Amino acid sequence: MIIPIFTTFFFLTQFFQLGSTTHTNTCRSFCGNLTIDYPFALQSGCGHPGFRDLLFCMNDVLMFHIVSGSYRVLDIDYAYNSLTLHDPHMSTCDAIVLGSKGNGFAVEPWRVPYMNPTPDNVFMLIGCSAQSPLFQGFPAKHLPCRNVSGMGCEQYYGCPAWDSVGGHTHKPPGSAFGSDPPQCCALSFDSIKAINLTKLQCGGYSSAYSLAPLRVDGPNDWSYGIRVKYSVQGNEEFCRACEATGGTCGYGTDGIRQLCMCGSTNSTSNCDTVKSSSRRIYSAVDTLSGFLMCLLAWMATN
Ligand SMILES: *[C@@H]1O[C@H](CO)[C@@H](O)[C@H](O)[C@H]1NC(C)=O
Ligand SMILES: *[C@@H]1O[C@H](CO)[C@@H](O)[C@H](O)[C@H]1NC(C)=O
Ligand SMILES: *[C@@H]1O[C@H](CO)[C@@H](O)[C@H](O)[C@H]1NC(C)=O
Ligand SMILES: *[C@@H]1O[C@H](CO)[C@@H](O)[C@H](O)[C@H]1NC(C)=O
Repeated sequence: MIIPIFTTFFFLTQFFQLGSTTHTNTCRSFCGNLTIDYPFALQSGCGHPGFRDLLFCMNDVLMFHIVSGSYRVLDIDYAYNSLTLHDPHMSTCDAIVLGSKGNGFAVEPWRVPYMNPTPDNVFMLIGCSAQSPLFQGFPAKHLPCRNVSGMGCEQYYGCPAWDSVGGHTHKPPGSAFGSDPPQCCALSFDSIKAINLTKLQCGGYSSAYSLAPLRVDGPNDWSYGIRVKYSVQGNEEFCRACEATGGTCGYGTDGIRQLCMCGSTNSTSNCDTVKSSSRRIYSAVDTLSGFLMCLLAWMATN
């Protein structure tokens, strides 16, 4: 009578093991104290294909690499889908960096749908030549320069960094200018789509963002860095379904097609399709072993 009880127990454990099949997420990782999770990843084949070959971890420092250069990632905000980047050659309130060493910001055309600086991020271009495309092609030489989220050059000129540059005679941005362009021109990324210091003939740049709805007063209190919004382009469903069925989101070797990694197999949808086929195999095995056990039990009692 011990044997049939054992058989029942065997059936139950098999059933519960199947019910709780979750594959460990092999893509989630850390770099320093930053969590790297979907749509980002450090390994190829993990995350969303729009973010492939983007992040690299070097000595616990997370680097973000795009066509305009490499940036340090200060933060990834998964709730607000944003990244905060730092460029060491970017001017701040404490230092003006000239010599066109800064990266600016430009992404590969294929990446454009996936990420862009936020609309409340201000770029301040410094020391641009009068021949700069910034100052050409606008009616009556009307400048594209403007304040962004209450941040602009007027306030930025109040930074101690400008004391060392010396003798700046800035003109009010937005008005026509004579022979001298303004020393600083603030704009949002949206108005020019790429911050290329070479193309714009600028000596340097600064970038700041405000964490709405907080309004900060002076340029000393602004956060210096580049705030980037990322998006998987309305394609959240695939990964949500994949993770809900215990899978890990990735992409195929073509670098385009999304994949759901379900332990030893990959699925083009989610792990339920994989699981239901493996459950059928399991239950066949279970039925067979159960039958053999019962047979043993029957033989033992006779
Ligand atoms: C992560 O570490 C950096 C210093 O390396 C620190 O400035 C930052 O506040 C830390 N972030 C969190 C969320 O702990
Ligand atoms: C599943 O996809 C990942 C990412 O492309 C790949 O590394 C892995 O080898 C694939 N596994 C199988 C079983 O095909
Ligand atoms: C910036 O502009 C220069 C000159 O037009 C060009 O050669 C370079 O490829 C551009 N850089 C990026 C990152 O687009
Ligand atoms: C930007 O804001 C400053 C101060 O708030 C103001 O003096 C300046 O005229 C504004 N500039 C533009 C172009 O609106």
